[in-house]
Amino acid sequence: METKDNLNKEVLKVEDLSISFYTPVGEVKAVDSICYSLHENEIMGIVGESGSGKSVESYGIMGLLQSPGKVKKGKILYKGKNVLDFDKNQMRQFRGADCSMIFQNPMTCLNPVYTIGNQLMEAVLVHKKISKDEAYKKAVRMLELVGISNPERRMKQYPHELSGGMRQRVMIGMGLICEPDILIADEPTTALDVTIQAQILELIKRVQMKNKMSVIFITHNLAVVAQICDTVSVMYAGRIVEQGTVDKIFYNPSHPYTKGLLKSMPRIDDKDANRLESIEGTPVDMLNPPEGCGFSTRCEHCMNICLRKEPPMVEVEKGHRSKCFLHIKEVVNGR
Ligand SMILES: Nc1ncnc2c1ncn2[C@@H]1O[C@H](COP(=O)(O)OP(=O)(O)OP(=O)(O)O)[C@@H](O)[C@H]1O
Ligand SMILES: [Mg+2]
Repeated sequence: METKDNLNKEVLKVEDLSISFYTPVGEVKAVDSICYSLHENEIMGIVGESGSGKSVESYGIMGLLQSPGKVKKGKILYKGKNVLDFDKNQMRQFRGADCSMIFQNPMTCLNPVYTIGNQLMEAVLVHKKISKDEAYKKAVRMLELVGISNPERRMKQYPHELSGGMRQRVMIGMGLICEPDILIADEPTTALDVTIQAQILELIKRVQMKNKMSVIFITHNLAVVAQICDTVSVMYAGRIVEQGTVDKIFYNPSHPYTKGLLKSMPRIDDKDANRLESIEGTPVDMLNPPEGCGFSTRCEHCMNICLRKEPPMVEVEKGHRSKCFLHIKEVVNGR
């Protein structure tokens, strides 16, 4: 996909990745045949409603899927090597040092029985050959960088002694302390108030630019995407339905679902604030998804073929792809 700098190297390539949960009542296709490339220095947003597969996809990359979840098919290529073939040691190196993740809920990552300092130092000691003294200094510097005042005192505190905002900052520090090539940030600011949210976005952007890091930024919030992302993948019911640069997705959305998402977002330049619309219908039942296009049951343009066949991904313009039969003239003319 086109990025802000086409010369940037590809760091991560996800090829035809499917992840399913094999539950007693049937297979849940949480992630279904998704493809994308992430380049050095690129911030890619993943947007989509709750349950569309955003977190499961990132757990798949990090090798953190829990039973009954399994990668069903596909490849996750990090600098050309398939992460799915990594042994335990390679995976340990990859997770943390090459690619790290900020989780949706900080308490799933912070251990309540260890101090903040202990956990930050441990994260770096596992991956880098440095002394405890150096690790301590690095941890203190990281706390400063993520905007925590009095870091030496905070190092001695336990997670429950910190506010939600501070815990989130510590998590971001844990994600960044090993200077990974890729950061996956899963809704890192959802639980925070708007001011702290803005500060955290700024922080991620600052570190990303300094380290030329690639970021996968998962969010419900399109305004956040517009603010910090270069490219966007829009997910619906386990599939990527539209991909492109932020400008292309925002100014020329092609998929009916993306158009619906944008209409439901308040805009400063929109004088008629009453026109905010919601997308009709309910999200897909992932145990019994529709046969053809996942969005067909909610789509105002639904044609017969959409109920039977899965639409192909169509390049609507350079660096902009959308998975919809409306882009195929022969189908639209023949309906
Ligand atoms: N342990 C599980 N067993 C069965 N299905 C699961 C399990 N975990 C996740 N799923 C299914 O995977 C789908 C994707 O879930 P995921 O958590 O990735 O959604 P999400 O896009 O991150 O949503 P949110 O925005 O709410 O975080 C869901 O529809 C859910 O039904
Ligand atoms: Mg999630």
